[in-house]
Amino acid sequence: MFRFFSKKIYEIEPDAFGLDISDESFKFAQLRKKKHSLALTAFGAGGFSKELIDDGEIKKEDNVVAIIKKALVNPQYGRVTTRHVVCSLPEEHSFTRVVQLPKMDVTEVGEAIKWEIEQNIPLSINDVYYDWQFVASDQKNIPHQDILISAAPKKLIDGYVSVMKKCGLIVKSLEVESVAVSRALVKGLKTDGPVLLVDMGATRTSFIIFSGSVPQFTSSIPLAGKKMIGAIASVFSVNEEEARKLFFDVGLDKIPHDGKVYATLEPIIKDLAEQIRSYISFYESHSMHEHEHPGAVAVQKVLLSGGVSNLSGLNMYLALALRIPVETGNPWVNILQEPLREVPELSYRKSLGYTTVLGLALSGMQKTSL
Ligand SMILES: Nc1ncnc2c1ncn2[C@@H]1O[C@H](COP(=O)(O)OP(=O)(O)OP(=O)(O)O)[C@@H](O)[C@H]1O
Ligand SMILES: [Mg+2]
Repeated sequence: MFRFFSKKIYEIEPDAFGLDISDESFKFAQLRKKKHSLALTAFGAGGFSKELIDDGEIKKEDNVVAIIKKALVNPQYGRVTTRHVVCSLPEEHSFTRVVQLPKMDVTEVGEAIKWEIEQNIPLSINDVYYDWQFVASDQKNIPHQDILISAAPKKLIDGYVSVMKKCGLIVKSLEVESVAVSRALVKGLKTDGPVLLVDMGATRTSFIIFSGSVPQFTSSIPLAGKKMIGAIASVFSVNEEEARKLFFDVGLDKIPHDGKVYATLEPIIKDLAEQIRSYISFYESHSMHEHEHPGAVAVQKVLLSGGVSNLSGLNMYLALALRIPVETGNPWVNILQEPLREVPELSYRKSLGYTTVLGLALSGMQKTSL
């Protein structure tokens, strides 16, 4: 997605590393081709203080640049050996949608896409960058075609591109978080029916309905780890560090501390489960993109990722609340040979928080857009 930044410049697409920028943190990772799989050659992470990026918008560019530059030359493991980068775009300001159009030629599609974008986002078409691509279908004789659209405000993208430039990096592409998460978690980037990916980070939880070969619907809510840890800090009157420890160690276990941690977290997780349920219902009742698998609109399972997917008892709670299978995803599924799900340098549990950046790093090794 958003490859137009590099399209005209390169004859041969360069390999790139991935850089995931969140409101309060960033992560980077680089992969290398091996004979039958890929290998992780570098990764690292760092934090931003609160006022530098707000809701995905870069507010203090020079500070952000200085922090990223410093971290890139000092990874937690390995060495970053390229200046080419695939960088994430925040979900909450981006628009990703599959639209269905009658069969028409490329120029007509271009016009129809403009119209679709104008209908769906509260911005003028002149204020956004957008990109689109045909979605491959196994079925030949259908009268329409699916098209994946991504759009994001120019102001936002210009901010990210400017930061990359000032870091001495060359943007290969910009990828909306949901596309990166899908690329990391969905094996071969193909499913038989709809699967809901839920990436739970520190500040945001993203919902992605992936079906066929693309994310069909995406959205993001500000209910995530920070709120949960904040609730524990307030109930137990402890600082953030102690609250985080309780969060990590106890999670949804009902026994320790007379069930007080559970009682604090349960209403928040219940709210999350309700939001997931209504998201699934919305998709199932509005789905019209299922000609690949007629009738198969029921979401088959939920795959969790992001740091909070480590929370003990979360899978079980959500599975009971949603009455569909809930599994923790494997962000290495398209990188390593199965059944591997970690490398010595980055454990499985830790790598769940690296899902987005592993998806970006994978994109950096590929020659086509999705
Ligand atoms: N073992 C664990 N148990 C429970 N929660 C954990 C664990 N490890 C990390 N977390 C939580 O995961 C969150 C960080 O997840 P992640 O790295 O996916 O977020 P992020 O990408 O930085 O943030 P965001 O995507 O929301 O901007 C933090 O709230 C952290 O407390
Ligand atoms: Mg994240």
